[in-house]
Amino acid sequence: MKKSHAFEKIAVIGLGYVGLPLAVEFAKKNLKVIGVERNPIRVDSINRGKSYIGDVSDKTLSEIVEHGYLKASQSFDAIKGAEAIIICVPTPLTKNKTPNISYIVFVSKQIVPFLHKGELVVLESTTYPGTTEEVVLPILESSGLKAGKDFYLAFSPERVDPGNEGYHTGNIPKVVGGIDAKSTDLAAKLYKLIVPLVFKVSSPRAAEMTKLLENIFRLVNVALVDELAMFSEKININIWEVIEAAKTKPYGFMPFYPGPGIGGHCIPIDPFYLLWKAKEYDVDISFIELAGKINDAMPDYVVNKVSYALNSVKKAIKGSKILILGVAYKKDIGDTRESPALKIISKLLKWGGNVSYYDPFVPEIVIGRKTFKSFSSLSKDVLSSADCILILTDHSSIDYDFVLDNSNIVVDTRNAVKQKSSKLFKLGDGCD
Ligand SMILES: NC(=O)c1ccc[n+]([C@@H]2O[C@H](COP(=O)([O-])OP(=O)(O)OC[C@H]3O[C@@H](n4cnc5c(N)ncnc54)[C@H](O)[C@@H]3O)[C@@H](O)[C@H]2O)c1
Repeated sequence: MKKSHAFEKIAVIGLGYVGLPLAVEFAKKNLKVIGVERNPIRVDSINRGKSYIGDVSDKTLSEIVEHGYLKASQSFDAIKGAEAIIICVPTPLTKNKTPNISYIVFVSKQIVPFLHKGELVVLESTTYPGTTEEVVLPILESSGLKAGKDFYLAFSPERVDPGNEGYHTGNIPKVVGGIDAKSTDLAAKLYKLIVPLVFKVSSPRAAEMTKLLENIFRLVNVALVDELAMFSEKININIWEVIEAAKTKPYGFMPFYPGPGIGGHCIPIDPFYLLWKAKEYDVDISFIELAGKINDAMPDYVVNKVSYALNSVKKAIKGSKILILGVAYKKDIGDTRESPALKIISKLLKWGGNVSYYDPFVPEIVIGRKTFKSFSSLSKDVLSSADCILILTDHSSIDYDFVLDNSNIVVDTRNAVKQKSSKLFKLGDGCD
């Protein structure tokens, strides 16, 4: 296929949930893509055409690797001569919930010796407003090249939603904001190669803030519905029924659902980047703090619910067999980062529970120093031998009628079980 653009070689740094699908999209357009990845197992896996990210199939990956459109490397030498570099490394929080941008800083420094005239650098890692201009720009300029004159710099948030069958990297609109008009235009031109719509904003800060607005919106709304779910239990209302009813309003309402707490690499983390930045201006963004507090409290609430459910059959958490269904942070994926299941299991263990789990996407998890292995399937015996089943992730492949029929007690935090039953204790459905 003939290439009709100025970008022929693109470097993507960090090949995880964000970077690998992005690299694949560019490679599918017959661009030469170099992926720099720190983890040697991942590098090897990509170069053998074996995907470790659910949204990228082995078939797609092996095709582009075989045709030479994608190659992974541990070495930054590989980025030499690229017309564009896209940074997709992690942006976690420290223990004290402050931003840890060390990955961005490290990678920016690694780019410096290879930076050349005309090159475009785009940061995709979610971060606080100002990172691109205040942190990345000065590091890149330490090369002696001038941003906006010799090289171009922009921020473009990633919006990928792992496991979403309708939306993926190739059809989600991109937002781009460069440090100047040329940087914005170049970044827009780059992404137009792989997505149908690119929306330009006036600065990297606006683009950085866009991503945070999207994630804060979700955090706050989920926390709101969690709080209403807990209240609904007190006055014997089924919040799930209420949400279904409210959803029929054709405008001004968007459904969010309660659960055991928010997980993943985005929603529980990103809003705290803004909170930290706001403190620099003596501003408290109380919505984020409040939503974070409610979210953090959900795992304890769930443990109390398990205790309440066991109490109904004269049992305690201590000594009871508790089988967890689903440990991933959301359904139909195997990602356990920040998953509330990890906190809930820790607490159940602390209270003397005898915990096991089943998750078709997560073969094993480590809690504290102990490794737990998933049951390979959900048989009648597995279900009936547990004192309590706790549904934390509503994976689609599980037959929840079968679960209820063969269990002693079920605590359902996801509205996965649709039948009514006296042995079912549902989050957000009256039981107090
Ligand atoms: N996962 C999501 O759904 C999602 C969605 C939108 C935005 N984001 C943001 O995108 C960024 C990346 O997230 P992710 O989920 O892809 O993370 P990830 O952990 O899945 O992937 C990051 C990759 O970067 C690699 N890496 C770390 N340091 C490196 C280095 N020095 N050189 C090369 N590679 C290095 C890691 O080994 C890993 O493979 C984060 O800022 C995140 O907040 C994530």
